[in-house]
Amino acid sequence: MQVITKVSELRRALADVRNADKRIGFVPTMGYLHDGHLALISASRGHCDVTVVSIFVNPTQFGPNEDLSKYPRDFARDEALCRSAGVSIIFAPSAEEIYPAQFESFVEPGELAKPLCGAFRPGHFRGVATVVCKLFNMVQPDVAYFGQKDFQQCAVIRRMTVDLNLPIEIVTVPTVREPDGLAMSSRNRYLSPEERGRTLAISRGLFAAAQEFASGERDAATLIALARKHLGRVDRLQYLELVDTGTLRVTESSLRSPAVLCVAAYIGSTRLIDNVVLSWS
Ligand code: PAJ
Repeated sequence: MQVITKVSELRRALADVRNADKRIGFVPTMGYLHDGHLALISASRGHCDVTVVSIFVNPTQFGPNEDLSKYPRDFARDEALCRSAGVSIIFAPSAEEIYPAQFESFVEPGELAKPLCGAFRPGHFRGVATVVCKLFNMVQPDVAYFGQKDFQQCAVIRRMTVDLNLPIEIVTVPTVREPDGLAMSSRNRYLSPEERGRTLAISRGLFAAAQEFASGERDAATLIALARKHLGRVDRLQYLELVDTGTLRVTESSLRSPAVLCVAAYIGSTRLIDNVVLSWS
């Protein structure tokens, strides 16, 4: 496994891979890896010859009052995890390597970036789309892997890839959860034991709605109300919305096409997001 910090070096290493006609899989991350990230790596390993993982805490996707400076970092641990997961290259650039002093060009996502997290984190998806576009251009993968946990992020990236004619297949990998249902996240480490216990409200609320949907309930308000009952245990519910999986717009009152129930909630000062897809297949 190679650890590369410079774009020029990355291009050199990948030119040989590309010349040998090998399939390149790419997993962009902000590090502090957990089993969710490892599921993306494993999906890439299953379909590609070479797997590149980027580890970069991207400053442009954090708001001024968000957790950029305290975002968890442990490069030695990430490196060991990548090595044992069979990663070929870790790309871990500095902030200056990605955003040199003169940097001023951004990718501006459209409607898909406006609801849900976009409404509460202005500029977040602009930062995500920009860094992912740059990383795509640096790595030039055949396939890139993203987690369903960040459903809106997947939608924005898929749209960007089509809109900007990037020749990259986007694969979404199902959310990996702790045994009790909590979606894995690097931010879970901020939780105290008491807060950790209360996180169950989130997955239980989503699962309750999914179960009711599976039993035939199609009324959006009923499904949302069911989830909301469990979500009483969070400290602040930022949003709980049932939206169309394609447009991310609020669904009709009676579900007729695949929808996703999305939640963002604070437990203490930690903001957690999760979702469950309600579909017929
Ligand atoms: P990060 O939060 O590190 O997540 C990296 C990738 O892992 C994302 O595609 C995310 O959806 C996926 N992931 C996180 N938790 C997961 C889980 N429990 N199950 C499955 N997949 C999971 O998302 C980002 O970083 C950044 O926004 C990034 C795309 C790297 C751009 O900076």
